[in-house]
Amino acid sequence: MSTLAAPIPMPAGMPEGPRHVAIIMDGNGRWAKARGMPRTAGHRRGVETVRATVRAAGELGIEYLTLFGFSTENWKRPLDEVNFLMGLLRQYLRAELETLAKEGARLRVVGDRDGLAADIVDMIKTAEERTRANARIHVSIALNYGGRADIVQAAQRLATAVAQGKLAPAAIDEDMLEGCLLTRDLPELDMLIRTGGEQRISNFLLWQSAYTELVFTNALWPDFSKADLEHAIAEFRRRERRYGAVAG
Ligand code: IPE
Ligand code: IPE
Ligand code: MG
Repeated sequence: MSTLAAPIPMPAGMPEGPRHVAIIMDGNGRWAKARGMPRTAGHRRGVETVRATVRAAGELGIEYLTLFGFSTENWKRPLDEVNFLMGLLRQYLRAELETLAKEGARLRVVGDRDGLAADIVDMIKTAEERTRANARIHVSIALNYGGRADIVQAAQRLATAVAQGKLAPAAIDEDMLEGCLLTRDLPELDMLIRTGGEQRISNFLLWQSAYTELVFTNALWPDFSKADLEHAIAEFRRRERRYGAVAG
């Protein structure tokens, strides 16, 4: 038997995909608390889950995986925890880059880089450059990312073009605004999974999730497994996406 899992068989008449899956990786702190451990221990385990999930997503045929790593609101956390998370990010980028590159993953980081430490920004650039030619799976990590902040910076760009006389306000349409978002190189978001039991978006991909299928699981992120991902995919394939139209 190969260690690589076979792709999930596609039931006849069911939608294909999901091609692009995003995950709000939530529940690290609660996972640790339940074990009498500091929250940081949950984050450490959470990184293991990131590794396993990237591998599983590739095996299950997901082409684009977008992970919420740190929100623009997560700066409100205690400084120790923020510093620990940034340290984990450095470790992850250092330790995983070659593996990701060899596995055919293309790495992107979406978010406001101005708020990140200079050495992290350099590591991100190196990782994006190193994996630029890969296309087996596109892994995007949202760091210092906020859905509202992304829409605001897109609006500022368009407003600048208008102020410079290069763009007529009436020419602004959905495609143009979408083309200014940090996620402009990613395809439509098919499914958004949130672990950890909460049922909210927490300022993740606001614009992008207009017609995304939402899947919530009680599994805390450190416990999220390939089987959980398979269940979410199966759930997605049971859904009927209508986009406002009448069922076919
Ligand atoms: C998700 O887990 C990780 C980040 C937001 C960085 P949390 O740290 O939010 O864990 P809970 O929700 O407190 O359990
Ligand atoms: C969302 O989780 C952010 C990430 C997973 C990076 P939070 O734990 O920050 O969200 P809230 O505070 O429960 O809404
Ligand atoms: Mg949380």
